[in-house]
Amino acid sequence: MKGVILAGGLGKRLEPLTRITNKHLLPVYNKPMIYYPIQTLVEAGIKDILIVTGGAHAGEFLRLLGNGGEFGLKHINYTYQKGEGGIAEALGLAEHFVDNDKVVVVLGDNIIEKSIRQYVEDFEKQPKGAKILIKEVDDPERFGVPEIKGDKIINIEEKPKKPKSKYAVTGIYMYDARVFNIIKTLKPSGRGELEITDVINDYISRSEMTYSVLDGFWTDCGTHESLLKASNLIAEKER
Ligand code: G1P
Repeated sequence: MKGVILAGGLGKRLEPLTRITNKHLLPVYNKPMIYYPIQTLVEAGIKDILIVTGGAHAGEFLRLLGNGGEFGLKHINYTYQKGEGGIAEALGLAEHFVDNDKVVVVLGDNIIEKSIRQYVEDFEKQPKGAKILIKEVDDPERFGVPEIKGDKIINIEEKPKKPKSKYAVTGIYMYDARVFNIIKTLKPSGRGELEITDVINDYISRSEMTYSVLDGFWTDCGTHESLLKASNLIAEKER
């Protein structure tokens, strides 16, 4: 099982904090944001990790993280995303690295409380397809939102005005290597990006997607509000 962390983007919603650095290098309580998704993967037993980043500050990741010794790693892989093609495009850059294996993808701004090891082990046993983790939130319209019928997710809508459930699709995704073929078929969305939600909907249409409700707290750090919330949640956890 490989691990990929997506840490590109301009972080426009966090201006002016992101004017002179990458969002994922900003502090979340006592550590740079990127530390948390690395910990998430390492705690789940994943040691083969690729960080996809971009923009003017990509070199700072290497300076900060080096070979990952602080996380008990011998080596970290890095790759560079040119431009702003979206999450799915960034993941497409990991094709050679994943090399027909399965992959756990974590968005670099997703902060969680507990280990995802059990979900990853369940996905290892899943013969094929994808697995997502969802979480109940107060503001589903900010996220990808699943439509649930019985015990099945039948569709995901990206940032719907009228959410069909109270759940957000978290930025922790598990895929088989077919994901790279799906990415190649995607067309840019209204915001000009290749959407990860379209990838998940492709798996749903083939009845190859499973999901779990994530245990413990979850937040992204895409806005000033959620960045503050992340720091407070981590501070409380550390105490
Ligand atoms: C992205 C995804 C969205 C998901 C969210 C989780 O949104 O597009 O489906 O719910 O991450 O953090 P973005 O942060 O790019 O707006």
